[in-house]
Amino acid sequence: MKNDFQVKKIKHVAIIMDGNGRWAQNRAHRRVWGHVRGSSIVSDVVERSDDLGVEALTLYAFSTENWSRPQAEVKTLFSLLKKFLMRERSRILKNKIRFKVIGDIVNLPEATKDLIAKLENETKDFDGLKLSFAFGYGGRSEIVSGIKSLVEQGIEISEESISKAMYAPEIGDVDLLIRTGGDQRISNFLLWQVAYAELFFTNTKWPDFNTEEYEDILRSVEGRERRFGAVDETESLDSARKMARVNHQQY
Ligand code: FPP
Repeated sequence: MKNDFQVKKIKHVAIIMDGNGRWAQNRAHRRVWGHVRGSSIVSDVVERSDDLGVEALTLYAFSTENWSRPQAEVKTLFSLLKKFLMRERSRILKNKIRFKVIGDIVNLPEATKDLIAKLENETKDFDGLKLSFAFGYGGRSEIVSGIKSLVEQGIEISEESISKAMYAPEIGDVDLLIRTGGDQRISNFLLWQVAYAELFFTNTKWPDFNTEEYEDILRSVEGRERRFGAVDETESLDSARKMARVNHQQY
């Protein structure tokens, strides 16, 4: 079902789903409970992205730095990924969602790696929402491995060739990066692709995030002017004239 509001400028949304641990601790629960609750929001956000015409959605589920968390927490995140894949498989296929995991997943249990490979293969030609989970992901590693592969293949280093050497080049640059949980950081997420992204930081912790807030963010960012470092000539002339008039009146 298509929503009345459709995004036009925002094609690729990336989300840092932060604040799970604090959300749980504030409720006197163990941190992993926050991840469990947080994982239940993911499907709603995927579905709403599809309804609103977002073309690519990339979710930060597990960073390279997260490997140093307690084993129990790491295992919970693995198992939530597996459960998501099992629970959402039919919906992903039905909605023609192209699913991918970006990052280093060698240490994941074999059964989970098989589920990922199967779903990636089944959905690789779909033309719906491009849904990517960043798992075992680090932006710097992605850039290093991209550049290494270009050097190995003897391909000239350029912005274009580096973009093409990223884990999922088809998702393109990020238009909007949302981070929940109150911190205002990029945290090694899609470093190459966020160059001109609009940034949106919300204090809402991920388990409290919902599709209403998500849609509000998309609406407000759609209204922002994005100049990509350039200036509209007519606009700058207009504002210069206005400025001159003000100055003239003042003196
Ligand atoms: C950051 O919160 C969040 C993560 C490290 C993991 C995000 C994972 C999920 C939302 C669930 C995974 C779901 C699927 C479907 C794979 P934090 O623990 O750093 O929170 P804190 O900043 O409050 O400590």
